[in-house]
Amino acid sequence: MSGAIDWEALVDAAERARGNAHAPYSSFPVGAAILAQGRVFAGCNVENASFPVGICAERAALAAAIAAGCPRIEAVVVAAERPVAPCGMCRQALAEFDPEVPIMMCGGSKREVASLRDLLPSPFSPTD
Ligand code: THU
Repeated sequence: MSGAIDWEALVDAAERARGNAHAPYSSFPVGAAILAQGRVFAGCNVENASFPVGICAERAALAAAIAAGCPRIEAVVVAAERPVAPCGMCRQALAEFDPEVPIMMCGGSKREVASLRDLLPSPFSPTD
């Protein structure tokens, strides 16, 4: 997709997904939305009684985009009670598809934007 990114539409999608988060252990619901090939894919954190089984919102949204055949990611929004940056594992997961993707972190009316390159300057690559 070309043209300007409709960030507020992505924020809406991320906030909606956040409303469906399963976060009974942390009480920290997170939603994410990824724009990929003109489509919006949402995810939320899904925690588990066996803590390591839980998945973050960003990787849930990324998996939805990949499963739909849309690996060319263009923008990521993370929505939480305050702006939070994706965890290290999610940064690496996103970098697989675009190490420069812009990421908006939002919480309430607060918005912060960073490039994944700034958040993860040296992603792991077996070939670099
Ligand atoms: N979490 C996310 O979903 N995304 C982030 O960027 C940071 C953390 C989740 C994991 C866990 O379910 C909860 O937030 C508290 O760490």
